[in-house]
Amino acid sequence: MSSHSSSPTPQEGETHDGSSPSGIEALDSQSLRIPDNAVVTVTPNPCMDRTAAISTPLDRGGVNRITDVTDVPAGKGINVAMATYRADEPTVAIAPASAGDPFTSLVHKTGLSFVSTPADHPVRVNLTVTEPDGTTTKLNEPGNPLEPDHVDTLTRVISQVAQRASWIVLSGSLPPGLPTSWYADMVGAIRKSADGHDVKIAVDTSDKPLEELGARILKDPTVAPDLLKPNGFEIGQILGLDGKNIEHEASQGNLKPATEAAQLLVDHGVRYVLLTLGASVAVLATQQGTWYASPPPITPVSTVGAGDSSLAGFIIGTQRSGHSNGKSSATDSSVEKTALQYAVAYGSAATSLPGTTIPFPSQTQPESVTVMAGAGATALKGVS
Ligand SMILES: Nc1ncnc2c1ncn2[C@@H]1O[C@H](COP(=O)(O)OP(=O)(O)OP(=O)(O)O)[C@@H](O)[C@H]1O
Ligand SMILES: [Mg+2]
Repeated sequence: MSSHSSSPTPQEGETHDGSSPSGIEALDSQSLRIPDNAVVTVTPNPCMDRTAAISTPLDRGGVNRITDVTDVPAGKGINVAMATYRADEPTVAIAPASAGDPFTSLVHKTGLSFVSTPADHPVRVNLTVTEPDGTTTKLNEPGNPLEPDHVDTLTRVISQVAQRASWIVLSGSLPPGLPTSWYADMVGAIRKSADGHDVKIAVDTSDKPLEELGARILKDPTVAPDLLKPNGFEIGQILGLDGKNIEHEASQGNLKPATEAAQLLVDHGVRYVLLTLGASVAVLATQQGTWYASPPPITPVSTVGAGDSSLAGFIIGTQRSGHSNGKSSATDSSVEKTALQYAVAYGSAATSLPGTTIPFPSQTQPESVTVMAGAGATALKGVS
């Protein structure tokens, strides 16, 4: 039945181990106890993924009885954080959610280090109704507005972790109250606060915030994040291209449009472009070249969380390669190959699991993912 939790109520701004200070005003990167080399994820518009099972087909206009309900705290950054936490990477998730919100209790119950910044409204619920034959119906709430004061606190907390984190992952949609330029603004703010510390910034979003980020990157490479993880449609949004066509061509084995689009972003300052094209292929473009990996054969069960798991897998791969602290123990191209292998292994593992299930390392098989190198858009023969 419902997994609503009654775990002790933490203070806002408190991390899970309870050792941090009692109030948001006191927060700084020391008191937040951000571990060195941590993966920090930011979810400005978190949600509770609620799955309600009914034992008879959905009766529109009638009374439908729920037989089972499960709540999973989610939102793209929370999903990424769950994957890196489960992979034993030092991880901290940041999201606006009040201390008494069931969402906050459920995140704490997972064991993940969680910094909740203030929010006046409850975290939204995305409801999925599942019928006995497997049909699912989704009813998603829009995000609740974040008040200007709370936006300031969120922004301040993110800037405060910039000198400790290895990665900062900015993920998902923006709630009302945040301007669509927010991600682009945050990249600049984080770099300024990092003050020379090599923090890598990843952004995974779509629609207006992504279009705005793309427009800014094309004008000014200094606001380019270190990692973008678009799918075909999203890379179209960033660059004003036909993303559906990029996906279609890739599904037919023609990777030239995908490669050119990803390399164009690299030319504009993005260090890693991880372009995932569902079941077809994932492309990693960097200044050193382009790599390709096809997903292993799996039976797709739910693609929810697949992209988030890919992004997490990529970061896990870079952390494992020792690249994250600037003291790489591997050559650059082996870092990239490992990162792409892990990205595809994690994405595919998530796709083979039900609902929003974020994989544990034991559920992934990076060694079964073959990575092929291409010298650019023309050397793609043999990649299918
Ligand atoms: N049908 C599939 N079979 C095997 N693997 C898949 C399939 N669909 C997705 N994946 C895996 O998940 C990864 C990410 O999928 P996709 O390209 O659909 O991301 P996305 O559109 O960003 O997803 P999301 O909607 O979760 O953000 C792929 O690179 C691949 O590893
Ligand atoms: Mg995605």
